[in-house]
Amino acid sequence: MTDCTSLWINRKDITKTKQVTFQVGDLADGQILVAIDKFGLTANNVSYAVTGDSIGYWQFYPAEGSWGIVPVWGCATVTTSKCGDIPVGDRLWGYFPMASHAVLTPGNIRADYFIDIVEHRRQLPMVYNQFRRTKAEPEFLQRMENERCLLFPLFMTSYLIYDYLIDNDFFGAQQVVIGSVSSKTGFGLAQMLRNDKQISQSIIGVTSPRNVEFVKNLGCCDQVVPYQNEAQIDPLLPTAYIDMSGDARLTINLHNHVGENIVESCMVGASHWQEGGKVGDLPGARPRFFFAPGQIEKRNKEWGPGVAMARAMIASAEVAERVAADINIEWVYGADSLADHWARLLDNQIAPSQGLMVVL
Ligand SMILES: NC(=O)c1ccc[n+]([C@@H]2O[C@H](COP(=O)([O-])OP(=O)(O)OC[C@H]3O[C@@H](n4cnc5c(N)ncnc54)[C@H](OP(=O)(O)O)[C@@H]3O)[C@@H](O)[C@H]2O)c1
Repeated sequence: MTDCTSLWINRKDITKTKQVTFQVGDLADGQILVAIDKFGLTANNVSYAVTGDSIGYWQFYPAEGSWGIVPVWGCATVTTSKCGDIPVGDRLWGYFPMASHAVLTPGNIRADYFIDIVEHRRQLPMVYNQFRRTKAEPEFLQRMENERCLLFPLFMTSYLIYDYLIDNDFFGAQQVVIGSVSSKTGFGLAQMLRNDKQISQSIIGVTSPRNVEFVKNLGCCDQVVPYQNEAQIDPLLPTAYIDMSGDARLTINLHNHVGENIVESCMVGASHWQEGGKVGDLPGARPRFFFAPGQIEKRNKEWGPGVAMARAMIASAEVAERVAADINIEWVYGADSLADHWARLLDNQIAPSQGLMVVL
């Protein structure tokens, strides 16, 4: 029998947590048990909790009553297998529960991936149900486990936004304004735009005053603007606004300042999870939600299945190598410390240069 430790989050009040340990029962035929030995923790996981009911993130690993389990991106090893095609010792990267172990039901098994075909996941976006079998992947990826847990899920989204902008000729924009640019998703996008010599649009990052230096040091923005100083942005240029903050005040200020020259307004995230709210009618393009799996599906049809994800993976590896010296990995051990870091994350006490990696 294996003890599984997990941290549950109250769905109605995500500041409340409880540690839960239970014994994993016998596996059914076709199932595997995996030990999740590490996972990344960022504002993205907070957003999974904030939008858990509206988007469905609580449904991947159901808990009980008013409690939910936040999904995390991590690495795991198969410790028990009742699935003939997945041996004990297989190494996986994917979308796991915030827990020490998980039971999965592999299907569509290939050398380098499988899909969890458990009934309750079938209606959920495919991108989250795929697990990479990393031993069959190129060696450079196998060497980047920490980066894959902490950075790749965010940089892959950065790539999809970068691709979305190119796909739409930047909607005619001459500048791209990135809200909450000190986030990994935010500066990942800025880096990809900066590294592409075909792109002439200027890149403007908006961030907290205390994070301005961090962003400037990354060297990926033409202009870094502290919050409340949006008037420094040129309102005369057609502008694409890509927002990771979900901060209603910022969206309202920027739309009112740039007016009809906001040609695209793309809501990617909600790192300022307490500052949301209705923005009402605003001048310029209507803000719309960006859902990464949507762009993947579009490109799968146009480029062939898996091509967009493969390109996103390579772009992520490039940016991860570029920013390696700017992110310090901090290891978080055990459920007590995880609960403490969850609270600090909610309270904006984690610096953008800190990369939290958790071992339960
Ligand atoms: N739609 C999608 O498919 C998709 C995919 C990936 C990520 N995202 C979203 O992108 C956003 C960024 O995620 P990430 O994991 O890249 O973030 P991250 O690296 O953990 O972001 C850290 C930054 O976010 C801001 N922040 C973090 N916690 C905060 C808090 N409690 N209050 C106010 N600001 C806070 C601060 O930036 P500033 O000072 O610069 O504001 C901080 O430097 C998330 O909302 C995430 O859900 C969306």
